[in-house]
Amino acid sequence: MQAIKWNGQRLELLDQLQLPNQIEWVKCESVEDVAEAIEKMKVRGAPAIGATAAFGVSIGARAGQELQKSDFLSYIDGVCDRLARTRPTAVNLFWAIQRMRNLISQNTDLDVPELVDLIQREAQNIAYEDVEINKSIGRNGLPLIPHNARILTHCNTGSLATVDYGTALGVIRASHASGRQVSVYADETRPYLQGARLTAFELQQDQIPVTVITDSMAGHLMKEEQIDLVIVGADRITANGDTANKIGTYSLAVLAKHHGIPFYVAAPISTLDFALASGDQIEIEQRSPDEVAIIAGKRIVPEGVPALHPAFDVTPHDLITAIITEKGVILSPDTERMAILRKKG
Ligand code: MRU
Repeated sequence: MQAIKWNGQRLELLDQLQLPNQIEWVKCESVEDVAEAIEKMKVRGAPAIGATAAFGVSIGARAGQELQKSDFLSYIDGVCDRLARTRPTAVNLFWAIQRMRNLISQNTDLDVPELVDLIQREAQNIAYEDVEINKSIGRNGLPLIPHNARILTHCNTGSLATVDYGTALGVIRASHASGRQVSVYADETRPYLQGARLTAFELQQDQIPVTVITDSMAGHLMKEEQIDLVIVGADRITANGDTANKIGTYSLAVLAKHHGIPFYVAAPISTLDFALASGDQIEIEQRSPDEVAIIAGKRIVPEGVPALHPAFDVTPHDLITAIITEKGVILSPDTERMAILRKKG
């Protein structure tokens, strides 16, 4: 299942706000359409928003193809700035935009139509590469998944969160395909319910056994020895291995440590941010408290009582058993071990 379709001119996104009840595709014909789709989380998940932003730059480039070169270059700079203002935490967004900026600055000798073609090809490359990268993450994670493993995951890290296949869900897919007979507990992942709506939907389509639990049930299941391992994705991993991921991930890592259960993070190298020494420096997106206070149009919190909505949290590296990437697995990540990935990246 792919949630991002590109026909060379137009981007179509499977509207993740409507899933699982409706399959609705959103057409993005302008940079603003793309930026809004990311802001409103019609498309979400770190690698998916990176690829979408790259297509946004491509759409912007096409729209500016009649401009003189110097005007085109400053205009496309503005396009990149707009797309970079959509969401702050997942570094893949900035990684993809920077990759487009680098390509442009290395090719300023080309004329504008050639640059536009080059930009379009680069966006497509980012999308193609993402799928291959996820499959490698799946293969690399496989040795960590025992036969019959009962796996807890959080948020959605599958085809919907990437261009296809997924990161943590990619490892689960690879395990299933290898005949390991795994089963999955999907945290519902309040308040956006990516686990209940999206992970359950994807796994059901692939006929991988899945049971949805509320976020607060994880500790009980661990205590009852119902969970063999936890695997999650990541939105940004800093130089020491600290990992920002969907709010609730940190609590799972603490619980897993307490119960002696392995806690794995699966992510592409594009999620690594070596510019930040530790997770304290990661900007945590604060979304509208209404997303917590209102469910399906109905207010569940008394009027006048405030709600909070930090959309991500940071799991310290010492709670992480291993980070699984397309370039290999780093056990007990810390600054020294993460540097190995930096060299490979
Ligand atoms: O707010 P979201 O839905 O964009 O958050 C997504 C997550 O936190 C995912 O776990 C993360 O991006 C990894 S996706 C492969």
